[in-house]
Amino acid sequence: MRELYLKAPAKINLALHVKGLREDGFHELQLIMQSISLADRIKLKKKSGGIIIKTSHTELPTGKENLAYQAAEIFFEQNPELEQGVEIYIEKNIPIAAGMAGGSTDAAAVMRGLYQLFELKADFKKLRSDLEAIGSDVPYCLAGGTVYAAGRGEILESLPFIGEKYLVVVTPAFKISTPAVYKLYDEIQGYRKFNFDLVLDNLQNDEKIDWSLDYKNDLKNASEKICPEIREIKDIFKNTEAEFTMISGSGPTVFSIYDSREKAEKVAAGWPRKNDFVAAGKTIDSY
Ligand code: C5P
Repeated sequence: MRELYLKAPAKINLALHVKGLREDGFHELQLIMQSISLADRIKLKKKSGGIIIKTSHTELPTGKENLAYQAAEIFFEQNPELEQGVEIYIEKNIPIAAGMAGGSTDAAAVMRGLYQLFELKADFKKLRSDLEAIGSDVPYCLAGGTVYAAGRGEILESLPFIGEKYLVVVTPAFKISTPAVYKLYDEIQGYRKFNFDLVLDNLQNDEKIDWSLDYKNDLKNASEKICPEIREIKDIFKNTEAEFTMISGSGPTVFSIYDSREKAEKVAAGWPRKNDFVAAGKTIDSY
């Protein structure tokens, strides 16, 4: 195989609980991760002479700071017998620094794709732990789906797929620094009781999601303080027929869930804030 095209889906969080600050500076978390149809598109092409990144997005780094570059580097370290080189093209559709794991999913897709391109068998368990070093969301992004994550986000337990749910994601033109949100969280937020067991029980055993349970995001206050536009976006969603509205990750993306594709598409098409990124889509199963 000389070249390969693949999708790198974004994620949203249906719940995010910060349990505490760890000695290594990371936060101990409990999360529900969910893949969505919004995706970057990646093209991989065998090419001698190292790792080359090209992208449709002018603000995306093309060197070592790009997580996709780091994933390719790990792949070639794992497989030193191969000719060391690949050209990676990233068609960027997921907003950057938005709480939807855009960089992480590109890295995970590159790792998955390189194993396919070079026709090698991948040990997913090992890949997950190798990818942890790149970022907390990267191990999840290897296969996506509906997943309970713990630790830094790297301890993963698959849950039954919540089914196709239609949604709209809106991202203001404001990049949020994840470390800044966690730092502010530490300063302003006291420990909050979070009934994660009921959420897990609901997802594991019931047909329908009970949104009145703790489908909540502990980073909400910190994120809204850094980016007050989040509130304006939520206010607009309030006047739609959304079943549920919340920020994803550390924000500033806000998503709303609808019971039909038509409703979601109508909200996206009529979105009044012209500088926001807006996309209608749906939840997807693991890939
Ligand atoms: O792992 P990742 O590179 O995505 O993390 C970015 C930043 O987010 C970390 O440097 C840290 O400040 C914060 N973070 C955290 N606890 C986590 C995940 C991320 O404090 N579990």
